[in-house]
Amino acid sequence: MSDHVSFADLTSGAVTGTIAAVIGHPVGHSLSPNLHNPWLAGAGIEGRYRAVDVPPEVLAGAVPAFRDLGLKGFNVTVPHKTAIIPHLDALAPVARQMGAVNVVAFDEAGKATGYNTDGTGFMAHLKASVPDWPVDRPALVIGAGGAARAAIVGLLGEPLPFVMITNRSRDKAEAIASEIGRGRVTVVDWADRHAAVGGAGLVANTTSLGMKGQPPLELDLAAAAADSVVYDIVYQPLMTDLLTRAEARGLRTVTGLGMLVEQARAAFRIWFGQLPEVPEGQIAELEARFR
Ligand code: ATR
Repeated sequence: MSDHVSFADLTSGAVTGTIAAVIGHPVGHSLSPNLHNPWLAGAGIEGRYRAVDVPPEVLAGAVPAFRDLGLKGFNVTVPHKTAIIPHLDALAPVARQMGAVNVVAFDEAGKATGYNTDGTGFMAHLKASVPDWPVDRPALVIGAGGAARAAIVGLLGEPLPFVMITNRSRDKAEAIASEIGRGRVTVVDWADRHAAVGGAGLVANTTSLGMKGQPPLELDLAAAAADSVVYDIVYQPLMTDLLTRAEARGLRTVTGLGMLVEQARAAFRIWFGQLPEVPEGQIAELEARFR
């Protein structure tokens, strides 16, 4: 049976044995079942993780339906990360701060709590990839969408002097700085982003620029210090134009797939109380798809 199913198939009982899920619209591209199902098997947990297409007009029914089906919880992806909030019983502080939920967990009484593991995923992958990434200087975050919020929430938990944010639409960067910046986020004008690279220990692209079918991110790396790190959350392709140019300059680079894996591991822990073992070859196999 495919792990990509419709909401109707799930609620009608045509698909059984689901223990966790991801909801989105569309959700056909989701890699999450490829991650979670081997982890469930490895942990000896019965049940499948399924990608469920939930159009916005039926979102309100998702929480009661999944509760009734006995799911441990579910992931939430585009376009429901903010829209799901009014349908939940409680919100973890990080999800409240970000105004977005990517994980919902049911407790024994069926109470649905929203969490956000995107910031954890961003940081966990950075630390695993470059343990000695520079924290003596500010980080520079490019973009001001949901992924930028996650990156900034993660970075603000680190001993950095401050975080710089730059975005084509400056007002969105200003909004992030004032809503979640806690006085440690400064806005850099989009035109000044190239120069800002020089003062940054970490440069992180959180926009979709550089993704297959999108133009590359225009960011001059000439000013980058030799020990700085360039992180791109885009993973299709794995080596974006930005990372290729960074590597050519001898800078350390971090690809985007690991953030997806780490936010998923953190979600698994919320539902099942243990971090999953990543089977040998699982990540390499996923990476090979995007090379
Ligand atoms: P997500 O929530 O996945 O991060 P998003 O909210 O659509 O996605 O944000 C996309 C980001 O990419 C935004 O920062 C956007 O800049 P604007 O706020 O100015 O729209 C940025 N982006 C997308 N296309 C861009 C382009 N051609 N040039 C510069 N920035 C771009």
